[in-house]
Amino acid sequence: MISALIDLKRTDGEGLAVQLTSQLRSLIATGRIGKGRALPSSRRLASDLGVSRNTVTYAFEQLAAEGYLEASPGRRPVVTVDGGESSEEAGAATPRTRSARLRLSPWASKLKQTDWPMSYQAQLKPLRPGHGDAREFPNEIWARCLRRSAVSAARRELGPVNRIRLREALAHYLAASRGVRATADQIMILPSAQAALTLIAAVLITPGDEVWVEDPGYPGAAAAFRASGARVTGMRLDEQGMQRMPGLAAAKLIFMTPSHQHPTGRVMSLARRTEFLRSSSPGKTWIVEDDYDGEFHYDSRPVPALQGLDAHGRVFYVGTFSKAMTSDIRLGYLVVPPLLVSTLEIAQRHIGLIASSHIQEALAEFIADGHFLAHLRRMRRLYHARRDHLVEGLERQLGEVLSVEVPSGGIQLVARLKRSRADQAAVKRLVEAGVETRALSSLALGKPRDHGLLLGFAAWREAEISAAVRTMVSCF
Ligand SMILES: Cc1ncc(COP(=O)(O)O)c(C=O)c1O
Repeated sequence: MISALIDLKRTDGEGLAVQLTSQLRSLIATGRIGKGRALPSSRRLASDLGVSRNTVTYAFEQLAAEGYLEASPGRRPVVTVDGGESSEEAGAATPRTRSARLRLSPWASKLKQTDWPMSYQAQLKPLRPGHGDAREFPNEIWARCLRRSAVSAARRELGPVNRIRLREALAHYLAASRGVRATADQIMILPSAQAALTLIAAVLITPGDEVWVEDPGYPGAAAAFRASGARVTGMRLDEQGMQRMPGLAAAKLIFMTPSHQHPTGRVMSLARRTEFLRSSSPGKTWIVEDDYDGEFHYDSRPVPALQGLDAHGRVFYVGTFSKAMTSDIRLGYLVVPPLLVSTLEIAQRHIGLIASSHIQEALAEFIADGHFLAHLRRMRRLYHARRDHLVEGLERQLGEVLSVEVPSGGIQLVARLKRSRADQAAVKRLVEAGVETRALSSLALGKPRDHGLLLGFAAWREAEISAAVRTMVSCF
């Protein structure tokens, strides 16, 4: 019965007639109501669905106008298209028929296999990792920069896609604060750090190439490289950070987060950095350094970027404003080794990973006027206190079950489970109680060796952190 295939939501903002039209269209387009089949009369369908006859008449007329139905007065409308042959994407084909018909590229198929579950809700809850505190961002100042950028847009030259003022401001900032050695034209402005990884993979990876990543590590990196056909191998960590596993042939690319390893927060030692650089032959092995939250350091001077130690132009340096400003600003950057600048720029234009000039110009002004550094200084003090507050709360109230690793910087920390390996079950219990965390085992590339919780501290006020720790106590 056709009415059984239709599910109209009275609470939906969309009118019933629009919903009915769209669902019938989708049923026809996917072949679930086949060519030649007569639909019920408008009176009958209206009564089966509990809607007015006008609603059904509207849907029939609309679909007749689009060519899906033949409708003549006094007769039941008949389906005129063989939907199974056409647009599967229109809707509810069964998974099997859909995948048999959709000939996805190897890239998309691999991406779908490696996509990691986004279990988070839209609403940010304590202690979700990976975020700074958007409530502390100086929105009024930023709004003024945006406004000035917008009103001067007509006077600006069109292009280049990477705005020179922002490139220069960043080259200067990165040299002074992170020891990055780059000229402005090596810097690309992108919509995110993830976009930088996608671009690098598109330009360098041939299917079958070996890529090394940290294990546990940042799943977005493994996904970007796997989708391009790389064989991704996880490298274990020790106290000095990522280790080079013995007996492996050289990799094409090595992805690492040496400033604060994601997720453990460990800082890679100088000896380990030098070892990776020495064993990476220029032009053969490229290193991707992701410095996603290197702006935040609390206990000592930050360790300068690995990129600054490289004398042979084999390190890509990736950064993002998602943590240093707000996660929805959607801006990141990539410092490209000199030999690859022109190739990366061609790829950037063709893939279309171009950030809005309005926002680039506004950010250049925000940095030039000192607001960016002032914000970072303020956040460093605030996040430092929040880190200490969370560590103190966890150690005092949950010291029996959790062993906290205190990171020297960053925006999140790891608390290992002392008595159990069931971190995913713990995360589930915590989420139900209103505390969001991530299981360390879910960040493993292969068989998980680490079990614990990744907890964010930067985005939460001390009172919110205290309340979250109390909730955690009730869950263990
Ligand atoms: C290690 C690491 N790199 C990159 C990113 C992504 O940054 P963006 O939001 O700019 O893509 C994240 C996000 O959490 C991250 O943890």
